[in-house]
Amino acid sequence: MLLGACDLNIIFNGVSKFIVQGGRELSGEISVNGSKNAAMAVLAGCVLVPGKCRIENVPDIVDVRNFLKILEFLGGSFEFSGHVVTVDTANLESKPLPAELVGRLRGSILFAGALLGRFGKAELTLPGGDAIGSRPIDQHLDGFRKLGAEVVETSQGFSAQGKLSGARIVLGVSSVTGTENLILAASLARGITEIRMAATEPHVQDLCKFLNLCGAKIAGVGTPILRITGVESLTSANFRIGSDDIEAVTCAVAAAATRSEIVIHGVNLDNLDAPLAVLDRMGVKFTCYPGKTADTGSIKIQKPVGAYHATKIVTGVFPQLLTDEQPLLGVLATQAEGETMIHDWIYEGRQGYLRSLAAMGAKVRFDDAHRAVVNGPTSLQGAEIRTADLRAGASIIIASLVARGQSIIYNAEIIDRGYERLDERLNALGAKIERQE
Ligand code: EPU
Repeated sequence: MLLGACDLNIIFNGVSKFIVQGGRELSGEISVNGSKNAAMAVLAGCVLVPGKCRIENVPDIVDVRNFLKILEFLGGSFEFSGHVVTVDTANLESKPLPAELVGRLRGSILFAGALLGRFGKAELTLPGGDAIGSRPIDQHLDGFRKLGAEVVETSQGFSAQGKLSGARIVLGVSSVTGTENLILAASLARGITEIRMAATEPHVQDLCKFLNLCGAKIAGVGTPILRITGVESLTSANFRIGSDDIEAVTCAVAAAATRSEIVIHGVNLDNLDAPLAVLDRMGVKFTCYPGKTADTGSIKIQKPVGAYHATKIVTGVFPQLLTDEQPLLGVLATQAEGETMIHDWIYEGRQGYLRSLAAMGAKVRFDDAHRAVVNGPTSLQGAEIRTADLRAGASIIIASLVARGQSIIYNAEIIDRGYERLDERLNALGAKIERQE
């Protein structure tokens, strides 16, 4: 498990907690913020552009703040207000990144491809991120090597340097940050790079769209075969980050699980086929309203009349169900009639939230590290939970909203890494979540 020292501090010595009074119905409207993972990918893209870029719809979350601190350490500057980040990377230099900051988030790994692409060298320690299982970076490093970099690995991290030339890279696994790192590295490389088995997630697409706006030549955006023709240089651009699909699913499940009616705005319906199909199979009634642009759709989750039904929840690579959406939908399984089989092949540590749900009264059978069966419906009881990862934290918040009585969720910081003021925004819908520092 590749965890930075700092993440361990967050997990075990967290100081904030959420105290949730369950059993309340939600109502009203909520807007989804910009995507966490797209924001970090696009900010990494800014490293390749020696000048100012204006990035809109950036969520004000701890991971983004830490990402910007690393950018500042390298000599960049930024202004961040009202979800708009203006970044200036004109005076950036490549130097070894501070382990303490790199260890705070997974997204820090993206500095590798970006610095290698712009300066021909990058040196960093292993990134942090959620404790959701083994998180190797072999695909990133193999790809850098194929592009011509000399990569030296140490027990603490790695360095990569060299003049890059286009190459044919077949990823052994469609890694999201791996694909993003290779896009970053290849955009300014000499010649043509083909990345096959590329990740297709919307955040990867956002990075490609941003770089193309800056003058990059990336074809096949959104497909598993990316063809990148290296260019001499990139120029400044303005870009709007797409909406956070995982946050949209978080809100949808919060409403469904509490048997409430809410309207979720600012969603990209095109990215939500898989999670909406799961909700549909489970008997959640909802109506989708397309917006004028991709990110201005809305979903109305309707108050249910009958019971929810068990289904299969199986993760995959986009457009299939994302591993980050699984722990959210898993909470709904506790409220559904019958056996829901949950299969998440991506991370062997993604069942932690199910253990927390079991502590709240859910009936869960663990088949192996990747498969579990939830037998519902069960009435959940408030509990004291220590969460080890972001999405598990969000799923336990939802379970606490459903549960009878009070729940205490320790390590609220982990949830702040990826959700902006989730407590306040759910409270605006009628939840009762108190933050204690
Ligand atoms: N993998 C390898 N070798 C590699 C890279 C990955 O074997 O070199 C394997 C992993 O072990 C895993 C699978 O590939 O089984 C997918 O991992 P991936 O590399 O795609 O994950 P990631 O890029 O580290 C991003 C998101 C995660 C999200 C995953 C999967 C960012 C910063 N993080 O991580 O987001 O879970 O993709 O979609 O983009 C979150 O938002 O809560 C979160 C954890």
